[in-house]
Amino acid sequence: MAWLKAPLLGLTPLLALSGVVNAYPSTLLALRDREVNAEQLQASYDYVIVGGGQSGLVIANRLSEDPSKSVLVVEYGYFDNNPAQLDPSSAVNYRPINMFNVSSVPQPGLGGRVSGAFAASVVGGGSTVNGMMFDRGAADDYDNWEKLGNPGWGFSGLLPYFKKSTNFTAPRADLAEEYGITWDAKKAYGTNGPIQATFPDWLWPTIKVQWKAWAELGVPIQKEAAAGDAYGAFWVPTNNDQTYRRSYARSGYYDPVASRKNLKIITGYRTNEVLFSAKKHAESITIQERGTPNGAPTISVKAKQEIVLCAGWLHTPQVLQRSGLGPKDLLDEAGIKLIVDLPGVGANLQDHAVTSIGYSYATDLSPNPSSLYTNATFAAWAAEQWLDRKGPLSVGVGNSLSVPSLPQMSPNYKSIIAKAQVQNAAKLLPSTYTSVNVKGFVAQRDLLLKTFSKRNNGVVEITFSGGGTSSLSNEKPLSRGTVRLNTTDHYAEPIVDFNTLINPTDTDIMVESLKFARKWFATEAMKQLSPSETSPGVNITSDADLAAYVVRSMGSTTAHSSGSAAMAPRHLAGVVSPELLVYGVTGLSIGDISLIPMIPSTHTCATMYAVAEKAADLIKKRSRK
Ligand SMILES: Cc1cc2nc3c(=O)[nH]c(=O)nc-3n(C[C@H](O)[C@H](O)[C@H](O)COP(=O)(O)OP(=O)(O)OC[C@H]3O[C@@H](n4cnc5c(N)ncnc54)[C@H](O)[C@@H]3O)c2cc1C
Ligand SMILES: *[C@@H]1O[C@H](CO)[C@@H](O)[C@H](O)[C@H]1NC(C)=O
Ligand SMILES: *[C@@H]1O[C@H](CO)[C@@H](O)[C@H](O)[C@H]1NC(C)=O
Ligand SMILES: *[C@@H]1O[C@H](CO)[C@@H](O)[C@H](O)[C@H]1NC(C)=O
Ligand SMILES: *[C@@H]1O[C@H](CO)[C@@H](O)[C@H](O)[C@H]1NC(C)=O
Ligand SMILES: *[C@@H]1O[C@H](CO)[C@@H](O)[C@H](O)[C@H]1NC(C)=O
Repeated sequence: MAWLKAPLLGLTPLLALSGVVNAYPSTLLALRDREVNAEQLQASYDYVIVGGGQSGLVIANRLSEDPSKSVLVVEYGYFDNNPAQLDPSSAVNYRPINMFNVSSVPQPGLGGRVSGAFAASVVGGGSTVNGMMFDRGAADDYDNWEKLGNPGWGFSGLLPYFKKSTNFTAPRADLAEEYGITWDAKKAYGTNGPIQATFPDWLWPTIKVQWKAWAELGVPIQKEAAAGDAYGAFWVPTNNDQTYRRSYARSGYYDPVASRKNLKIITGYRTNEVLFSAKKHAESITIQERGTPNGAPTISVKAKQEIVLCAGWLHTPQVLQRSGLGPKDLLDEAGIKLIVDLPGVGANLQDHAVTSIGYSYATDLSPNPSSLYTNATFAAWAAEQWLDRKGPLSVGVGNSLSVPSLPQMSPNYKSIIAKAQVQNAAKLLPSTYTSVNVKGFVAQRDLLLKTFSKRNNGVVEITFSGGGTSSLSNEKPLSRGTVRLNTTDHYAEPIVDFNTLINPTDTDIMVESLKFARKWFATEAMKQLSPSETSPGVNITSDADLAAYVVRSMGSTTAHSSGSAAMAPRHLAGVVSPELLVYGVTGLSIGDISLIPMIPSTHTCATMYAVAEKAADLIKKRSRK
């Protein structure tokens, strides 16, 4: 699958840096009003939002609904006005101008390989560049957040916000009929949310065989997964509008409120630090123009109500650490004055590490995904269809997933859980973890091991969209990574360590997933396609050989990095309370994916719309007149 290639092979610099970035077509002139430069900045705003990415724009929109409150967004990236960025093909092309250039330290669990790391740097953030696969986790995922000590953050607390953020359009009736696409809009979706979700105009016929094979294996087939039942096999919409243009934080939450005079954005500026009063109230931030060297002039901007950190999994912990909130040992080493010792800042990093399984089909149906490359007649027809925004080119990264539970996947599930239960947690965690971090992890592990024995939540995601290759991602890792300040250069990219596969349970689960995927390809239904395995390869059969394949093939990330400044009780290494306020100070909150305590079994975009919508409500509720 094309989308898998990018995470596995790293960034592909497909387009040169483009002059488009700062050029404004005349239709956008109205929007430009809200963009301020350094001279136009006021000394203070009610709310200052650090990061105009996905969650930052959602929160900025909601807070500026009250015309009496002024809101400033500070964004390191720029506007991307390239129309190609809205097409389905953008789902696999990450333009370097829109991304931070960062990778992990060598990963011992991956035989010392270095992994890419994905963090968007553009107005709209991840939602501007991502694959547009728009699914949600199982209810059990969010219920675990609540059980960890975060009242209000279970699935029932989040569903209203999932609904508020999204507007669903049913698939084309004949396509739904032919392919058996099912949904329950009433149960899962609202009716006028800013983000559009729908299905493409086309599907590959081979997928019908694949669906039949899942049913034959006994995987539950969900009518609607987005209302809490995201396990088994299910259909997933794409977050695009009905002309298959990207529907994202900018189009949904920023562009439509052009008339608001109380909402401003400054782009091409980095937030350096949050500054505190003697009473540890977050008073202001300092910002510095992008591209200027360390020590260049900065500007400070005050917040009368609150500073909201939305700089993403990579930079929210970095800004906190630079500002004196973080693990004491790290700040000591960096020579930064400690304001609050918060060992959770930059700990608890989680992602969906990914491998794949590949087959070739000797008797594939036609057309199939490779027809676009091998059959000139078909390719020409597809290109012609796309002129009317129809046909195969409306397909993004795919619309079907299978996310089996561990009991479904493996007859050995009880022994995998038993082995994990007796692990010495501290030995398998980052060496920088304190006893508080370890306690926090053990609380998560207790919840995760319960989930591992359930049938209503999945542990591995298997993608399928009619091709012969499926990615297998580890949805419920027990390994934990870190994001730590570069102690010699606080403004260099932080040091990212995913610690992928450090916990052997993660490898055990991936080995079971490969065996399970093989059973899927071996079903009666699949015989129609005459599949033969190309990867890992038919000679890789023992658990030990499969584990070795996992180690050499796994990538650390599917760009779902999260958890690096988690919401949890403070004695469990939490950084923010269930109200999203940073512990130990006042006037400072977090609204981005860093706050997710445990990664859900889903691509993270839809979840972050719901989280940011809820964050905005919490922030509004405490606003002072
Ligand atoms: C390449 C890629 C593909 C993905 N594919 C999918 C997918 O198909 N489906 C899905 O559901 N999810 C996908 N995701 C994940 C999803 O898009 C992200 O989890 C989500 O957008 C994160 O939102 P956020 O608000 O936490 O952070 P972001 O949207 O990343 O926003 C953070 C913003 O802060 C800015 N910033 C950082 N530091 C500073 C600073 N110091 N000062 C000022 N600004 C700063 C950044 O420039 C950025 O714009 C993908 C993500 C990526 C990157
Ligand atoms: C990213 O960083 C690497 C190593 O520091 C460098 O070689 C490369 O040119 C950078 N890429 C871009 C697009 O800036
Ligand atoms: C929501 O989707 C419906 C169905 O396609 C459409 O008619 C309606 O205009 C959309 N509403 C918004 C607010 O986008
Ligand atoms: C190529 O595509 C055309 C148009 O879809 C189709 O009629 C033809 O059978 C295809 N050829 C092959 C070899 O599959
Ligand atoms: C920290 O930043 C400096 C300066 O950019 C760089 O030379 C060094 O390699 C970085 N340290 C690490 C561990 O990446
Ligand atoms: C499997 O076959 C491949 C290709 O022939 C070979 O490189 C590999 O070493 C074999 N692996 C095992 C475990 O036999």
